[in-house]
Amino acid sequence: MKILAVVGSRRKKGNTSILMQEALKPFKMQDIETKLIFLDDYNINDCNGCEGCKETYKCVINDDMQKIYPEILESDAIILGSPAYFYNISANMKAFIDRCYCFEVFDNDDRSVWMGLNEALGGKYAAVIAVSEQEKEEDMGFTAEAMLKPLEALGYRVVSIVKALHLFKAGEALNNEKAMKAAKQAGTKLLKTLQLKERVKTQLSRDQL
Ligand SMILES: Cc1cc2nc3c(=O)[nH]c(=O)nc-3n(C[C@H](O)[C@H](O)[C@H](O)COP(=O)(O)O)c2cc1C
Repeated sequence: MKILAVVGSRRKKGNTSILMQEALKPFKMQDIETKLIFLDDYNINDCNGCEGCKETYKCVINDDMQKIYPEILESDAIILGSPAYFYNISANMKAFIDRCYCFEVFDNDDRSVWMGLNEALGGKYAAVIAVSEQEKEEDMGFTAEAMLKPLEALGYRVVSIVKALHLFKAGEALNNEKAMKAAKQAGTKLLKTLQLKERVKTQLSRDQL
């Protein structure tokens, strides 16, 4: 089992980073492989809509996203985290998500027929963590949804959504019990979902013998 956590804040000691690490704790406690990446450490260009990925499901843009694609494919679950930037995700999270367009599969004649590559391969699981300064959820805008909807389109079932409000200064999340608890619970739920999947798969393969 492998979990990939993608941080869309440039603040390495910021609130998104802290909450993402908290969400990974339940996995680490069970010695499950996790990888936390900061998008800011990678040079990721915007999707240019060239459709070069159409036949192969591989993006033709030669930049650091090529280092992240194998991580996405190898992971059993993904956690996306972003601060609210003007009611939306950060620019680097948006660029990352757009570059996952290569994992979308369309019918050749009818583009209303489509699925995420993950869906074709049996489905995967995800969680999202959105962080905002303001206290009211509406002031976070569609930060969580801007990660949730693309993940669903890419064939992930999003089992946990954390909306961590009222966090401004980098590191403040550490003192926010509610947010820390919600992040850990999100990780626990994702872990339990993956364990349930394993259990069902084992049971089915045993019953077929
Ligand atoms: C460019 C920018 C735009 C922001 N827009 C919002 C916003 O729309 N709503 C909000 O509640 N907070 C907003 N914030 C505050 C951040 O979401 C908040 O400080 C968050 O804790 C930052 O997360 P980080 O520590 O992981 O970087 C904005 C911050 C910046 C720098």
